[in-house]
Amino acid sequence: MAGETRASLAPDDLRGSHGPARHHLLTSLFGTPDLHRLAVYREHGGYRSLEKALKEMTPDQIHAEVKASGLRGRGGAGFPTGTKWSFIPKDVPGPRYVVVNFDEAEPGTCKDRYLVEHSPHLLLEGACIAQYAIGSHQAWIYIRGEYDRPYRMLVEAIEELRQAGILGPRPFGVDYPLDVQLYRGHGAYICGEETALLESLEGKRAQPRSRPPFPAVKGAWGRPTLLNNVETLANLPWIVDHGGAEYAGFGVERSRGTRLLSVSGNVQRPGVYEVELGVTFRHVIMELAGGPPPGRRVKAFWPGGSSAPVLPESMLDVSTDLDELARVGSMGGSGGVIVMDDSHCVVKAARRLIRFYAHESCGKCTPCRVGTNWAERTFERILRGEGTVADLQILDHVQDALQNGRCLCGLGDSAGWVIMSTMKHFREEYEAHALRNQCLAGECNVQRVGAHA
Ligand SMILES: Cc1cc2nc3c(=O)[nH]c(=O)nc-3n(C[C@H](O)[C@H](O)[C@H](O)COP(=O)(O)O)c2cc1C
Repeated sequence: MAGETRASLAPDDLRGSHGPARHHLLTSLFGTPDLHRLAVYREHGGYRSLEKALKEMTPDQIHAEVKASGLRGRGGAGFPTGTKWSFIPKDVPGPRYVVVNFDEAEPGTCKDRYLVEHSPHLLLEGACIAQYAIGSHQAWIYIRGEYDRPYRMLVEAIEELRQAGILGPRPFGVDYPLDVQLYRGHGAYICGEETALLESLEGKRAQPRSRPPFPAVKGAWGRPTLLNNVETLANLPWIVDHGGAEYAGFGVERSRGTRLLSVSGNVQRPGVYEVELGVTFRHVIMELAGGPPPGRRVKAFWPGGSSAPVLPESMLDVSTDLDELARVGSMGGSGGVIVMDDSHCVVKAARRLIRFYAHESCGKCTPCRVGTNWAERTFERILRGEGTVADLQILDHVQDALQNGRCLCGLGDSAGWVIMSTMKHFREEYEAHALRNQCLAGECNVQRVGAHA
């Protein structure tokens, strides 16, 4: 679960067995003593990109480099960052904001925390470049309420920037005021959904807004707002320094650059790994993370946090390319790779996740509020040994009702995908539990209650 993985980096020279060499664009300096200090970050070239942006580049040039880089959002949907930036209207007078999504409550995901705890200034530099690029003078970092250490580190880093004049009216002597404020999250998973986040940032209850209008046009306090994930923005210093074309030289097809993956669950070396997009999950799980414990096999893996549809062991050779993941029915999501070995029951794991989504459903839209609860009660029945054929039909029906835009936000889809993907790949485990009260993994202590057709 988020926050529980041991952060570690594998050696630089590891090579993917199915992909290109690994490259560290974000993490190359991680491990440098006191990198979180402004002086040390600057000794290693930090804020050079911001200075270059302010002094040598126009906002349009930065935008062009981001487009050329092919960077796609690292928060979940993988939306092209340059395209998102182009939705921000240029001609609307008045304030506009950059909002950093550092809520990171997705189960299995802790890569943004890892990034900020190693290098808070990398994020802050990215947030400042983004301000300049969209004509904003104010960034907000919405940080998960439970993230205490990264919060304190960001408080200190922002203070250092104010003292140095990098945040303030004239950063690097350029007449372009910059500011970054922190806002602590309200402690619910829904706070990471972009429009619920904006409600929360405005001091209201975190519930999604209907779209359109999208945040780019009408976001925080009704103003044009650029909302990006921590890791997405942390790529900007590198892109400004080296150029978008060089960034696009890493990765494959429409998935460019590198990505942080937090690998957790039944692996011998859980941790956060930066990989070049295009390496396979076999490489990530079996080589970098050391595979499952001795004597165990991978049974299933969630390639992008609990919200990404699960894949079976036979798909370990699928790559981290976002489009390939979509083709096989899943997604890159939040970069949280959760591995489950063959000692675990898929039905029980699905029940655990559905409980999470039912608990975290904000209740604003009916399909999600009602559907996740129906699903939870159906799972409870099946796992109590009271399942029937009808329960499998109910799960089929509910997963459909939760998906394809029927809910106000992606939380409903995520819940639906848990059911859809586990039933698709592990139907026999559902049937054994619901119809014969057997746990094929031998994990659940089940006893037949009554006779069912
Ligand atoms: C229920 C829910 C929770 C989400 N949580 C996060 C989160 O914690 N961090 C994040 O960056 N994106 C999260 N997202 C995705 C955001 O809505 C949004 O797409 C993302 O922050 C955009 O940034 P990007 O374009 O840089 O990826 C969540 C989405 C949903 C539906």
